[in-house]
Amino acid sequence: MKKYQDLSLNGKFMGRTISVISDLSPDEQWYLYNKTYQLKEAEQKKDDLTPYKINDTNVGAYLVFVESSTRTKESFLNAVKFHNIKTNIFDSASSSFNKKESYSDTFRMLTTYSPYSLYIIRTKLEGVTRWLDYDLGQFSERMGLRKPSFINGGDGKHEHPTQEILDEYTFLEQNNFKRDRIHIALVGDLFHGRTVHSKAEGLKIFKHVDVDLIAPDELTMPPHYKRKMKANGFNVREFESIEEYIAQSQVAPIWYFTRMQLERMGEDVLQHAERLTDSVTFRREWIEKMTEGTKFYHPLPRNREYPTIPFFLDKTPLNGWDLQAMNGYYTRAILVGMLGGSLGDDFEGEHFIQEIHKKNYIEEITKFDSVKKEFKIGTKPVENGIVIDHIGKGEDIKTIWEHIYKIRKILGLNIVSSHGVYQAHKDKLYKGVLSLPDLEKFDLIKMKKLSAIAPESTLNIIKDSLVIKKYRIHFPPKIYDFDEISCKNPDCISHPAHHENATPFFYKTESNTFICKYCDKDHNYKDIWDT
Ligand code: CP
Repeated sequence: MKKYQDLSLNGKFMGRTISVISDLSPDEQWYLYNKTYQLKEAEQKKDDLTPYKINDTNVGAYLVFVESSTRTKESFLNAVKFHNIKTNIFDSASSSFNKKESYSDTFRMLTTYSPYSLYIIRTKLEGVTRWLDYDLGQFSERMGLRKPSFINGGDGKHEHPTQEILDEYTFLEQNNFKRDRIHIALVGDLFHGRTVHSKAEGLKIFKHVDVDLIAPDELTMPPHYKRKMKANGFNVREFESIEEYIAQSQVAPIWYFTRMQLERMGEDVLQHAERLTDSVTFRREWIEKMTEGTKFYHPLPRNREYPTIPFFLDKTPLNGWDLQAMNGYYTRAILVGMLGGSLGDDFEGEHFIQEIHKKNYIEEITKFDSVKKEFKIGTKPVENGIVIDHIGKGEDIKTIWEHIYKIRKILGLNIVSSHGVYQAHKDKLYKGVLSLPDLEKFDLIKMKKLSAIAPESTLNIIKDSLVIKKYRIHFPPKIYDFDEISCKNPDCISHPAHHENATPFFYKTESNTFICKYCDKDHNYKDIWDT
């Protein structure tokens, strides 16, 4: 095993995984853009490119494209060849994926073939690289291997961080590398378009961001990404069609179109495909309305039947997409150099730091009235036991009833007890109360579970008719480690239907919703639970 640890390369970025664009800090992204500029310059001047190259066959790159691709696959293939490293193209069509082999098993095996492995992966399933980063990290440690790097080459409708990198680099080029502001319109299928989702974080490279979202209602940007944009200080406006957009005066000089992802749309949306496509397709009569210097971009491919940027625009100055596509090769060559160890030693700035979600969410209340006459079991006051109060406070009566049943089921509280929906004295809001006489113990695990199913409730411990302890149960920063939870995105790697055994894990957002660690799907806390 020792030979695996003896690799001479020791770059600052080795072993890192780029699952989403924010896996690189803004300083790291800026470093990548500077290096890309230098590489392009050096190539143009025919300078020696050796300092950029890995030049080490101990590094093995694997291209694993389970979903079709032209640009991402070919530009990465050329990028890894540039580095003179071991290059493997994984044949997913004839692999044991088709015999229901798990991603985890496949990548464990591949990781043993090279002292250091770098994977570029495109899948329909979302969150694959995030899962593999964790799982293969554990595997490598157990086996004494070097932890591999994973690059997400586009996962379902989730993210496409390397497209984001080449897009931002292209915008910077158009902006003469000035980062003070950008005004950009995102046009098309913003619901399924992973490249526009990545922009919620990627555009942070600019100090002031005005972003106009142009999409019909059915294909609007998912709320989670809009909230992210606003939280990042972006000025966000929304329009339902290009026609509506150009009728107002503040039109962006950069337009970023996306393809209509008809293959990912359900029947209900597909029946309106023509109207939806028409609302985000540029028309000939609008050309003269475009101010000088305006550029259109597109991650490509365009749909040859329904191109949102029609082909008659190819030979006009609006065409920015051809140069944009070229940047895919250079930006990916630099990223491979960073993760492969040839670049990064001169990086100065803030590295990406995994956010630590620590919060005391089970708060012991020290000042309270010890006698609580309203806590009853049936018509009798509770003498000893537990009372959970303020369940779903402020919601409608029916919702609170359903909530109480859910709590009982999840916490296994089908014991002698009573419950009800009441109107609070002070503010007249409805709330649920669950009285559990003779239940003496409610341990920390149960309290954590309660926080994940009844946040902002209170827990009263009653002895001899007195409240002796009281806790306010807040929203937890993370929900994980419970058997009864799962991501509800059917395309997520952690969804039970895929049997990949990726442990469900959710982070709380500022709006008290919970996003899946793998696919970023936003959940109401109640929806995380399977019961
Ligand atoms: N833009 C992009 O990812 O293109 P491919 O699907 O051809 O890789």
